[in-house]
Amino acid sequence: MHTYNIAVIAGDGIGPEVLAEGVKVLKEVAALDGTFQFSFTHFPWSSAYYLKTGKMMPDDGIDQLRPFDAIFLGAVGSPDVPNSVTSRDLLIRIRHDFDQYINLRPVKLLKGAPCPLADVKREDIDMTFVRENSEGEYAGSGAWLYKDQPNEVVIQNGVFSRKGCERVIRYAYELARKEHKTLTNISKGNALNYSMVFWDQIFAEVGKEYPDVKTYSLLVDAASMFMVKNPKRFQIIVTSNLFGDILTDLGAAIAGGMGLAAGANLNPEKKFPSMFEPIHGSAPDIAGQGKANPLATVWSASQMLDFLGYPQWGKKLIAIIEDLLVEKKVLTPDLGGTATTSQVGDEVVRKLEETK
Ligand SMILES: NC(=O)c1ccc[n+]([C@@H]2O[C@H](COP(=O)([O-])OP(=O)(O)OC[C@H]3O[C@@H](n4cnc5c(N)ncnc54)[C@H](O)[C@@H]3O)[C@@H](O)[C@H]2O)c1
Repeated sequence: MHTYNIAVIAGDGIGPEVLAEGVKVLKEVAALDGTFQFSFTHFPWSSAYYLKTGKMMPDDGIDQLRPFDAIFLGAVGSPDVPNSVTSRDLLIRIRHDFDQYINLRPVKLLKGAPCPLADVKREDIDMTFVRENSEGEYAGSGAWLYKDQPNEVVIQNGVFSRKGCERVIRYAYELARKEHKTLTNISKGNALNYSMVFWDQIFAEVGKEYPDVKTYSLLVDAASMFMVKNPKRFQIIVTSNLFGDILTDLGAAIAGGMGLAAGANLNPEKKFPSMFEPIHGSAPDIAGQGKANPLATVWSASQMLDFLGYPQWGKKLIAIIEDLLVEKKVLTPDLGGTATTSQVGDEVVRKLEETK
């Protein structure tokens, strides 16, 4: 029987609460499948760890994670530690060091999920974001000059390499070809006259190899308007790190809320472990109260199963999330229910058992 070794970084706030349910669900899937199992190793890296040690992870943290098949992450962030530290020293560090250059974020309105948009049919919101995840404005390049002086200057560079742009754009074209969907390129070439003109040029160059894929190009400001006014026009989307970060939160808002939004950080070549996470933060306002919705984490578990080669289980988990949303009996307060985080996890497990 194959064993998948999974590193669990539960993190802060509601992170440990939702991840406990994700782990529970993955264990049940493996037990039902019978051909593979999971071995989970928990790492305490979090804001609490930082307050104790002065570091978000040990110096050899990346080496400790390297042998794992995947990383399952909850959320990091605490009012006691600057967000730039929690995010850069753990999350972004893992994404960079493991070259997880694809951030795959589904924005799909499931049956029964709430949607704040008027006059939009459920089927009209069904898109997949392919967000560049290794460079752009998040590459960490810049300078802080004349600190605390009147002539203080900060520079945050946008890093766009040919290799970095080509590989994410090619990934998106391949996905669109495989799924027989349209591909929309979202950029901002009218204002960002180096980075985004270059990005658009590479989109066109790579596109010559995919004459079968129908493409569209939009400026990011227009794209955010269309996501609200006419989401149906989007199927596969490719965009930069910063734009993708912002647009996928908008995507979460139109597709059921943060409690249903998942994301996968992929190293497609599998040279390094990929990382699966709900996209929400540590939600300090509801932490420790059993109110956190674990369904985003279950969705990210389904992305992990897809990536490990078990798409049939990935699909089953999405179908179960949809059942829960339609039945409206076992849901957390953000979705109008009264169930606790672990009751929702238990219900997912119960429904998995029913499929036996
Ligand atoms: N990937 C990550 O680890 C990540 C992502 C975003 C923010 N953060 C960090 O999290 C902390 C809080 O950030 P924030 O408040 O901007 O964003 P957040 O996502 O934690 O919370 C925003 C709102 O959504 C609600 N919410 C989020 N997830 C929920 C869930 N699963 N179930 C029910 N309600 C949920 C929260 O209660 C809150 O009202 C900050 O320190 C931030 O830096 C971490």
